[in-house]
Amino acid sequence: MWIFLITGTLIWLMAWDHIRKRHRVTFLKRLNISGPPIIPILGNFFHGLIITPENFFQTVGDYFKRFGKSFVFWFVGECVVFTTDLKLFECILNSSTQLEKAQVYQILRHFLSDGILMSSGIKWSARRKLMAPAFHFKCLDHFVEIMDKNSGVMVEKLRKVADGKTCVDIFKYVCLESLDVITEAAMGVQVNAQNVPNFPYTKALRSVIYIESQRISNLRRYDWLFPLVAPLVYLRLKKDIRTMQEFSDKVIRERREILVREKANGSYRPINLGDAEIGQKSKLTLLDILLQASINNHPLSDEDIREEVDGFIFAGDDTTTSGVSHALYVLSRHPEVQERIYEEILGVLGEDPDSPVTQSQLLDLKYLDCVIKETVRLHPPVALIGRYIPKDWQIGEQTIPGNTNIMLVLYNVLRDPEYFPDPLTFKPERWMDGEKASLPKFAYIPFSAGPKTCMGQKFASLHMKTLIFKVIRHFELLPLGEELKTRYTIILSSSSGINIGLRLRTC
Ligand code: HEM
Repeated sequence: MWIFLITGTLIWLMAWDHIRKRHRVTFLKRLNISGPPIIPILGNFFHGLIITPENFFQTVGDYFKRFGKSFVFWFVGECVVFTTDLKLFECILNSSTQLEKAQVYQILRHFLSDGILMSSGIKWSARRKLMAPAFHFKCLDHFVEIMDKNSGVMVEKLRKVADGKTCVDIFKYVCLESLDVITEAAMGVQVNAQNVPNFPYTKALRSVIYIESQRISNLRRYDWLFPLVAPLVYLRLKKDIRTMQEFSDKVIRERREILVREKANGSYRPINLGDAEIGQKSKLTLLDILLQASINNHPLSDEDIREEVDGFIFAGDDTTTSGVSHALYVLSRHPEVQERIYEEILGVLGEDPDSPVTQSQLLDLKYLDCVIKETVRLHPPVALIGRYIPKDWQIGEQTIPGNTNIMLVLYNVLRDPEYFPDPLTFKPERWMDGEKASLPKFAYIPFSAGPKTCMGQKFASLHMKTLIFKVIRHFELLPLGEELKTRYTIILSSSSGINIGLRLRTC
């Protein structure tokens, strides 16, 4: 009796699995996209078991060698196409309709709800418009002041370990500095993470980012399984998110009260970045902009605002940390590049290592620009961009089947010898020789492209420049400690740390 029941259930499950996959398998075959062999129901589950954050790019690279520019992987019923095909990059990123994030990013919903990073359609475009003024050059001027101040704090912290012998995991320093900058730019509050790393908001945010990034590559990524396979981690995540939300809610409430008071006593002045006086004096943060914004004359609720503030912090914190830490690491291994940056800094900013920096001086650091471009080519903080295609999508003669995820694997494109000769060599000069002009479209898009392109690119570039120049101005970087062991979670990091040594410059 039991045998019949089990066999019957299995046959039924296999038939159901075959039917739900058949359409996608047929259309992907027509697109010439194949992948490692699958078994009924579980798909490539067993292939997936051996993929770890540390071997992710090696494994994906091996599949590209076997199957060409695209291959398909079935995580049980979830169909994921990994691709380095620039034609597919162009179709996906230029599309104004295919804006849904890949299913794997649903793990972030606990934290980011339906804010700009997770939403699509009308809500996404309205929110994107609202947030845009936060990246106006006048706001960026003020953000550079915040960056300058906080990078100075980091330099003071680093002085204590700058003996030329101590190996320093620079990621740990940069991530606290980055958090100080992004929270002040987002909310106008100083969480002082570098001096008080145990402040509840700081601890909770670091913990949320850590837990979420660990979920991406294991069974915890399924919301329904997460509380079952890791109940304590699940409860921790919930508690940390609550801590963060209570803090953000308090800041939003206080700011709103000030605004209401200003309106009552007549001192309120709406934001107009075109107004020269207001713009120049402005100490606007994202929160100020969102508080004064409205959609169809409806002001945003506190919850709406919190969603966007959290999204801004999440999008800008670890990404910049990854970029800056990798840049300092490669510089520690390339003394000649370091010296050239130092010379450039002296030329643009003068001899006084403590003079404040401005946005226009940062923009004049052209060689440093090339160094950053080359760093994010070799070590892209966001190494994959994923979209979910909900329904069959006709592109010219071809159809991408619905219910499919497409992962654009930037990491492998950015190291492809077809586009970047001698791809594994760190060569900032390649950006001076106008290499970008000769590159095919979409071969270099570390900040994405199209309607969902990174909103914070200028902010990130100014922040990375401020931090790198501040460190190089004060210290000589030395090649100490274990080499990188690249690790992919949501951003690129290293499981061995991002290690360097520092020696105080004497002149
Ligand atoms: C090196 C640093 C950074 C890198 C490499 C980076 C990269 C990216 C990428 C690749 C995307 C697009 C994802 C997609 O197409 O689905 C993105 C989106 C976004 N980024 Fe960045 N980012 C960085 C820093 C920042 C910073 C500092 C901020 C804010 C201050 C920021 C704000 C955003 C926002 C709001 C989005 C969502 C845009 C949308 O969905 O419409 N990013 N970023």
